[in-house]
Amino acid sequence: MTSFIESKKVVELQGVTKHFRFANEEVTALRGVDLDLYEEDMIAITGKSGAGKSTLLHLIGTLDKPSSGTIRVNGYDLSKLSDQKISRLRNRSIGFVFQMNNLLAEFSALENIMMPGLIAGLEKQTVKSRAEQLLEAVELPHRANHRPGELSGGEQQRIAVARALLMTPAILLADEPTGNLDNRTSATIQELLFSLCQHYKITMLLVTHDEALARKMPQRIVMEDGCIIDRG
Ligand SMILES: Nc1ncnc2c1ncn2[C@@H]1O[C@H](COP(=O)(O)OP(=O)(O)OP(=O)(O)O)[C@@H](O)[C@H]1O
Ligand SMILES: [Mg+2]
Repeated sequence: MTSFIESKKVVELQGVTKHFRFANEEVTALRGVDLDLYEEDMIAITGKSGAGKSTLLHLIGTLDKPSSGTIRVNGYDLSKLSDQKISRLRNRSIGFVFQMNNLLAEFSALENIMMPGLIAGLEKQTVKSRAEQLLEAVELPHRANHRPGELSGGEQQRIAVARALLMTPAILLADEPTGNLDNRTSATIQELLFSLCQHYKITMLLVTHDEALARKMPQRIVMEDGCIIDRG
């Protein structure tokens, strides 16, 4: 929570703009965004389609670079880091859950959860036991050997949540993680995300079109036309 002076700042954006060039036209997706996120912040981002929500998440997640402005993650100015250091930061400190879960079709649920740990070069047995713990946490131990195609949409999303948490990242970025699911499954996954982030003290930024869900989150950001117009 921002009110505690000792709370650690995990993300800092200063004057961040993002332009895209599209067929000789310039699209401005973000217009000078300033934003501070602290350890354990849990924030819902809402706003109309095209407001810049996904662009903001992509920039914080180091998946894209700003046109101008500064982004610091864990105190590191991203523009000063080599591609290799950025990849390492992304792998170790940032977890993603998207609407399309991007699970690897040819690997089992358990192997998908293990993937970030194997990429980080951690010892396989350690990674496996951690993945098994998370599989329990998302209540799918009986689906360990299923491939994504052999899981329901909600189950796939729970595996994606477990994968995003494997490295116990500082930040979890969730972009409409339940956009494709029915209301009940969606509520279960939201509660899961919320309780796991709270448990592991992970800062969560969650983009949602679901007003009821946004109201359940401790903090909210509203975006419009590339700007943050409200934070509370
Ligand atoms: N790669 C791109 N090239 C050109 N324009 C883009 C690109 N990505 C996004 N945009 C434009 O930038 C603006 C912001 O897009 P963004 O995806 O961040 O919106 P959003 O708030 O996530 O919307 P939604 O709720 O529909 O997902 C939009 O006008 C979009 O058309
Ligand atoms: Mg979007």
